[in-house]
Formats: sequence, structure tokens, C-alpha cells
Amino acid sequence: MVDAGAPAAREAAARVWRSRTCAELEAAARFSRLAEQLAAAGAVDPVIAMARHAAEDERRHAAQCAALVRELGGAPFDPGAAPEAPAVAPRGLGARERLLYEVVAMSCITETLSAALLGEMVERATDPRIRDTMQQILRDEVDHARLGWAHLAAERQRGCADVIGPHVPAMLAGTVHEELFSSRAEHPEQDALSGLGALDRAERRRIFDETMRLVVFPGLRRFGIDTGRGEQWLTERLP
Ligand SMILES: [Fe+2]
Ligand SMILES: [Fe+2]
Repeated sequence: MVDAGAPAAREAAARVWRSRTCAELEAAARFSRLAEQLAAAGAVDPVIAMARHAAEDERRHAAQCAALVRELGGAPFDPGAAPEAPAVAPRGLGARERLLYEVVAMSCITETLSAALLGEMVERATDPRIRDTMQQILRDEVDHARLGWAHLAAERQRGCADVIGPHVPAMLAGTVHEELFSSRAEHPEQDALSGLGALDRAERRRIFDETMRLVVFPGLRRFGIDTGRGEQWLTERLP
């Protein structure tokens, strides 16, 4: 039973977990679509299988997040409010490049960041039920990132040129909310909130910056992607 924290922190945490329920459902829709597109494009079998598996994982994550919302006393999540997952790749790219864009943005960037954030949140969690849920989700998110690197490696082997480099800034902007860069005051119960799985903005900014610079950019460069524009974008947004 989730019982740690002041009522205001529990209420705020319920809102965070509710928005995560939505994000997990959106991820499920995205991976379902990517699995179909990867199969249609003749991607390597392990990558197609990982994408299908990821879609199932994300549906389970959504149910786990919704259970935490209930335990925190939040209003039940309406499954009818499940978000769509529109394609994010620019129309100017060819079909194969658009698919690569979607996979890199979703797996290599968003899922890698998600795993880094969850790792930190697990460390800070004071509530055992919340910590346990985040640990389970974290294990899957690491696999979801791997599928992106595997697809990128396979495409690189087929001789795909660097179509990603110019779009890294857009991918970074798309993976975080504008709220990350705001200077609004933190929640007054932020310490309790961190224990319930919601880090403060400064921490999330630090993790975003470090994960991109130390994990994502070096990973992309290994596959011949020029990350110069991405690095510049990050320096401008997080001086
Ligand atoms: Fe997830
Ligand atoms: Fe995921």
C-alpha cells in the first residue's frame, strides 16, 4: 500500500503517474505501429520481435502506472482517453529513412532517457510499492532502447547514409516537455514527491544532459551519425 508522503505530495504524485499511464499507452501504440512498419520494410527478425514485445510491455506498464494512481488516491484513468501516437518523422524523408527516424527518436533517445530517469527515481524512492513498479518498468525500458540500436546497426550495415544527424535537435525537443526548461517554482513537497517517483526539474535536466552527452550521442556517432547539431541544441537549451 502506498502511504508515504503528505497529502499534497500524494495528490501531485498521482497526477505524475496518471500522465505516465498516458505516456505508456502512447508508447504501446507507437511500438505496435513500428512493429508493423518494420515487418513491412523487411527489418531483421529480432528487431521486429523486440518491437512487438515492447508494445506488450508498454501496455503492462500502463496498467502498473494506473494501479499506482489508484493507490495514491487519484481519479481512475479512463482507458477511452488513450492517446494516439502520430508519426513524428519529417515528410521530406523517404519511407525507410522515416522509419529509421521514428525508431531512433523512440528507442535510442526516448527509451534511453526513460531508463536513466527511472534508475535515478528507483534510487530515491521511499515507497516500496512504487520502487518495485519502477524497477520492473526499468528492466523493460532498457530492452526498448536496445531495439533502436539494433535497427540502427542493421541499417548502417545496409549502407544507410546519415539521415539522422540534421534531425537530432528535433528528436531531443520531442522527447522532453517544455516544462523541463521553465524556471517555475518546484512543488512545495518536492522531497516527499521524489520519494513517490517524481524528480525535481533540476535533477531531470541534469539526467537529460548527461544521458544525451554520455550515452546517446556517443552511441549515435558509433553508427556514423553527426551529433554536432544535437550537442549545440543541448548547449543552447541547457547552458
Ligand atoms: Fe514503458
Ligand atoms: Fe518503453
